[in-house]
Amino acid sequence: MKQGEIRKALMVATLLCVFLFIYLYWQQSSKPLQPLVLTYKHVYTANKKSQPHQWTWHCVNQRCERHPITDNIKAVSLPTCSMLCGSTQLWPQPTGPVTLGSKAVTFNHLQFEFETLTSGAARALVKEAFSSFNDSVLSLVRNNNYLQEKTDLDKFIVRVSVVHGDIVKLKLKTDESYTLTLKQRAGDILVNITARTYFGARHGLETLSQLIWWDQYEGTIGTLKVIKGATVQDAPTFPYRGLMIDTARNFMSIESLKRVLVGMAANKLNVFHWHITDSQSFPLVLPSVPQLSKTGSYSPGETYSPEEVRAIVEFARVRGIRTILEMDVPAHVGNGWTWGPKEGLGDLAVCVNERPWSLYCGEPPCGQLNPENPNVYDVLEKIYRDLLELTEETEIFHIGGDEVNLECWAQHLQKSNTPSNYSDLHDLWGEFTLKALARLQRANGGEKIPQVIVWSSKLSKRPYITKYLDRNSVVVQSWGSSQWPETADLLSDDYKVLISHVDAWYLDCGFGRWRETGEAACDPYRPWQTVYNHRPWQQMRLDKRQIIGGEACLWSEQVEESSLDSRLWPRTAAFAERVWTDPQLDLATFSIHEDVYTRLSTQRDRLISKGLKAEAMWPTWCSQNPGMCL
Ligand SMILES: *[C@@H]1O[C@H](CO)[C@@H](O)[C@H](O)[C@H]1NC(C)=O
Ligand SMILES: *[C@@H]1O[C@H](CO)[C@@H](O)[C@H](O)[C@H]1NC(C)=O
Ligand SMILES: *[C@@H]1O[C@H](CO)[C@@H](O)[C@H](O)[C@H]1NC(C)=O
Repeated sequence: MKQGEIRKALMVATLLCVFLFIYLYWQQSSKPLQPLVLTYKHVYTANKKSQPHQWTWHCVNQRCERHPITDNIKAVSLPTCSMLCGSTQLWPQPTGPVTLGSKAVTFNHLQFEFETLTSGAARALVKEAFSSFNDSVLSLVRNNNYLQEKTDLDKFIVRVSVVHGDIVKLKLKTDESYTLTLKQRAGDILVNITARTYFGARHGLETLSQLIWWDQYEGTIGTLKVIKGATVQDAPTFPYRGLMIDTARNFMSIESLKRVLVGMAANKLNVFHWHITDSQSFPLVLPSVPQLSKTGSYSPGETYSPEEVRAIVEFARVRGIRTILEMDVPAHVGNGWTWGPKEGLGDLAVCVNERPWSLYCGEPPCGQLNPENPNVYDVLEKIYRDLLELTEETEIFHIGGDEVNLECWAQHLQKSNTPSNYSDLHDLWGEFTLKALARLQRANGGEKIPQVIVWSSKLSKRPYITKYLDRNSVVVQSWGSSQWPETADLLSDDYKVLISHVDAWYLDCGFGRWRETGEAACDPYRPWQTVYNHRPWQQMRLDKRQIIGGEACLWSEQVEESSLDSRLWPRTAAFAERVWTDPQLDLATFSIHEDVYTRLSTQRDRLISKGLKAEAMWPTWCSQNPGMCL
């Protein structure tokens, strides 16, 4: 070989190596960018042997009556009787007109044909919604061999059209309305769901899934049925229909949070408020401040990675739910915040784990951010940047502001001999809040977040509220008792309010004391009827216009994932109908109509089908004998 050729060959070999190297490098570095995708599918696994049936139901005066089966009649199952007898069985009840047929047809899930007239980014979401609709219908199936049963249909065509295909993020002003028509055309069922946005279309599919049920009496092993003929027009009453879950007192796995979101979607709730940290633990791994979870989680396994949080946010979005991450400050911090001195930043938090706890906080362990340490605000800005990046939620942000204990700060100022300029420490708290809000704005690229939520507190009362909280951008989450003047005062001062009254919508209450000293935590239990019958805008004649909606809250001192489902369901479903449909209350009797019991019982059965361990509402006898237990 001539020298020139050797050089050429070497050059080619070198280039090949470089390409290979770049290729391998790119392959390796692109791997971590694969997002974590969460899916949910609950399949009924046991093939129950078909048993001889015992009862049949007759529709008499819009009520299903139970009778023993006799030889000469065709037995009707309870679900089929219920679906075709009087009640809509929809939950939450639509706010617009509903007409339903009085007959049903059999089909199987392989007859589904999904079509969509949706352009833009919403198209991919609609496809995901089809797939979770398909899974949710499949979860009704009680016998995997049912495909051999005869069906009345050729095809079950579901057509979804979304007008604004570019809207893929839920906002307070997002139109969530939809219309649904279902009719038979020759051998096909043709469903037409139209909506302004993806979020409305998704609700429409949820409603469609409620017009489908499993009939175990049909054929030899049972089959799926759908009502023949339906029109539904629907839109929510309130734009904010939230559920708060606390994952700091006790850790909840990602699997269990997925079940929460599946239940929320089934009830058309749309905000998952994730109270993700507190003074007990800091399970959230933040890329910019990893020290927080490293020193504050219960164990390395009991943490949420950024990928997991993003996956939950996406899992929720497909289900029409936005996620709001709350890291409560300046109180409700502590564990996870003690590394400041070691890193030369001074005390970031004070009173951490201080005793006797009852002097410095509402429950053990104590802890509060140190408002006089400027480094605290730098750390906050980093945290806010991470939180905004994880959720991509820039319309609403929750900054906490719950239960600040001024005695903790007073003691700290005294101990550290800091000359205090505050004759009233509420001003220190107010200024902390303003500084935190300024850092939030900086973390959001200089843009102000339009709606900042704070828990109601002394600071959200006069005279402080008008001094520190801007009524144009602050929403107060009013959690005091509904008997207090709190909510009415906020509304008359022209603040926007999110309602979470402790006496109605705190789902954690009623499980006794978990500590020896201090008051029992918020007994008694709030039964679903209390949750359902809470309508403060009617009871207290509050002006509804400034109320953005409601939020049920589940604090987790006495619940973890094994009892999570039963704390939430079916009570959260009752809450959902309050904020979606908002039916009138009978203030004279507070009685709840039979139809509500019947529909809620059916909705609870749907949640069970989806794999949620919902609490029993009553003895099965009452479900089998509608109206007879009231
Ligand atoms: C619904 O799910 C089943 C089972 O996973 C699948 O076989 C079927 O193709 C799905 N249907 C559609 C229309 O995607
Ligand atoms: C579907 O419904 C929309 C509005 O309700 C209507 O404009 C459209 O013609 C319907 N399409 C079919 C195929 O029925
Ligand atoms: C107190 O006020 C003085 C004068 O306004 C100011 O220089 C000082 O920084 C303040 N001290 C604290 C601890 O805020």
